[in-house]
Amino acid sequence: MKRQPRSSPRSAKPRRSVSIVGTGSYAPERVLTNDDLSKMVNTTDEWITTRTGIKERRIAAKDEQTSDMAARAALAAMEQARVEAREIDFILVATTTPDMVFPATACFVQQKIGATRAACLDVSAACAGFLVALQIAEQFITSHTFDTILVIGAEKLTSITNWTDRNSCVLFGDGAGAAILKHRGEGTHGVISTHIGSDGQYADILYMPGGGSRTPITRDNVDQHLATIHMLGREVYKQAVTSMLNASKIVLEQAGLTTDDIACVIPHQANVRIIEAIADRLKIPLSKFFVNLDRYGNTSAAAVAIALDEANRTGRIKHGDYVLMVVFGGGLTWASAIVEW
Ligand code: ACO
Repeated sequence: MKRQPRSSPRSAKPRRSVSIVGTGSYAPERVLTNDDLSKMVNTTDEWITTRTGIKERRIAAKDEQTSDMAARAALAAMEQARVEAREIDFILVATTTPDMVFPATACFVQQKIGATRAACLDVSAACAGFLVALQIAEQFITSHTFDTILVIGAEKLTSITNWTDRNSCVLFGDGAGAAILKHRGEGTHGVISTHIGSDGQYADILYMPGGGSRTPITRDNVDQHLATIHMLGREVYKQAVTSMLNASKIVLEQAGLTTDDIACVIPHQANVRIIEAIADRLKIPLSKFFVNLDRYGNTSAAAVAIALDEANRTGRIKHGDYVLMVVFGGGLTWASAIVEW
C-alpha cells in the first residue's frame, strides 16, 4: 500500500523532515558466556538458550562508565555522519544506569566528546529510552529549535544486576548505541511515524526499589539487593508482547503502511520468544526481524540502538527501506517508530 504523506501542522514554517544521518555502537571487550554463568548460579546454557535466545553478553570493565561507552558510540556515529562535535546542538542519553544520579550522563558525554555548544539531558524510560529520546529529538528539530541532535542509548546494567538471582542475572549485558539526527529540508522522508506510551499501573513488575529517595541505600539494607533489578519475568513477558504489538500497529496505521511494506523490524532485544510472538501476531516473517540478543543479551536502552547500528553497517537496511523499530521497558513504557532509511 502506498503511503499517504503525513499532513503538516498549521504553522508559519513548513514541517521539517528528520533523518538519521549516522549511527554508531560500542560493546565492552569482556564476554560472559552462558557456561560462565552456569559456574556462578544454578543454570545451564541449554536453559538460557531455549528460554531467551541469549548465548553471551558483554560486561563493562570496573572503571568503564556508562558515559565512556556512550561517548565511544557517539564518536562512531559522528564519524559516519561527518558531524563535528561543535555542530551538535543537543545530546540526549537514554539510560537506566547513569554514571551518577546527577549530573546527567549526557553532560559527561558532552565533556568526553567536546560538544561544547550542546544542551544536555538524560531520558529515563528504561528499555524504551532510545526510541523515546529519538522522538524528543525529532520534536526539537521539527519545531526549528535545533538542527543536529545526538541521541544515545547506553547502559551498564551489570552494575545493577543481582548476580545471585538466576531469574534475572542471565538476561542482561552492557553497551551503547548512538544516532545523529539532522533536518533534511522539507518533506516526508526520514522519521515518518512515531508513538510513545506508558502504563504506570505496572510500575512494580520491573523496577529497582533502592537507591532513590524512597529507599536510599543504607548500611543496614545493603545486603538486601535493593539497588538491583527486580522483575516479575512472566508478567513482563506478557505485557511486552501486548505493548509492542499495539505500538507497531499504531505507527503502521499513522504512516499508511502495511506490514508488507516493512523491509526490516528492529525490536527491543530482550528475549527471542517475545520477538517470535510479535512476528507471529503481526504476520511478518521472522526473517525480517533483526536479532542480535544472542551476542549481547538485553542491554535495555542500548539494545535497539546497537541493533540499528549493526543493521545499518551490515547493509541489512538500505536506502529507501521502511524500518519499523519497537521497544518496551519498565514503567511500563513503550515506543515505536517507522523510519524511511
Ligand atoms: N536457569 C535455570 N532455571 C531457571 C532460570 C535459570 N536462569 N531462571 C528461572 N528458572 C526456573 C524457574 O525457577 C522456574 O522453575 P520452577 O518451574 O521449578 O519454578 C522455571 O525455570 C520457569 O521459570 P519462568 O520464570 O516461568 O520461565 P519463563 O519461561 O517465563 O522465562 C524469562 C523466564 C526468561 C525471564 C521470561 O519470563 C522473560 O523473558 N521475561 C521478560 C523479561 C524481560 O524482558 N525483562 C526486561 C528487563 S529490562 C530491564 O530490566 C532494564
